Amino acid sequence: MRRCICPGSFDPVTNGHLDVIERASSLFDEVVVAVLTNVSKRSLFDIDERMDMLRIVSAHLGNVRIESFAGLLVDFASRHGITAVVKGLRAVTDFDYELQMAQMNHRLSGLETLFVATNPDYSFLSSSLVKEVASYGGDVTGLVPDPVLHRLHQRLEQR
Ligand code: PNS
Repeated sequence: MRRCICPGSFDPVTNGHLDVIERASSLFDEVVVAVLTNVSKRSLFDIDERMDMLRIVSAHLGNVRIESFAGLLVDFASRHGITAVVKGLRAVTDFDYELQMAQMNHRLSGLETLFVATNPDYSFLSSSLVKEVASYGGDVTGLVPDPVLHRLHQRLEQR
C-alpha cells in the first residue's frame, strides 16, 4: 500500500491545504494528515479543533486519516512506516525553506518529499493571512472551507 503524509499546523485548514490533500489522496492509497501539536506561535485553534475541522473538510475523501504529532516529522513517519511526504509549493518564496526541510528530513531518515505545485487560485493563501484579514473584518469566503469560515467567525467574535 502506498501511503504518504501531509504535515502542517493547519491553524486553520485553508482551501490551499485541502487542494494539496485532495491531490495527494488521488496519488496515494492512503494519506495521513499529520497536525503539529506544538506550534511555536500561539495558535487560534487548539489541536482538537484543528483536527476536527480537517476531519470535516476531508470527509468526502475515503482514504484520508487525521493524526497529531509532536517532535520530529521523521520520527512520526517511521512510527507509521511511511516513507513519503507530500507538500504544496505556492511560490518561489516557499522554495528555500521547503528544500532545506526536505533535504534535512532525507538526511535524517531517508524520508522523501514530493512537491505539488499549488493551484494558482490559492498561491497567495496562508492560514496566517486568512486569520489576519478575518480579524480585521475582511471577507475570506472562498479561501477556507465553509465549516472553517463559520468557526473562524465564531472564534474571532469571542475575542
Ligand atoms: O503548516 P506549517 O507550520 O508550515 O508546517 C510546518 C511543519 C509542521 C511541516 C514543519 O514545521 C515540521 O515538519 N515540523 C516538525 C518538526 C521537525 O521535524 N522539524 C525539522 C524539519 S527538517
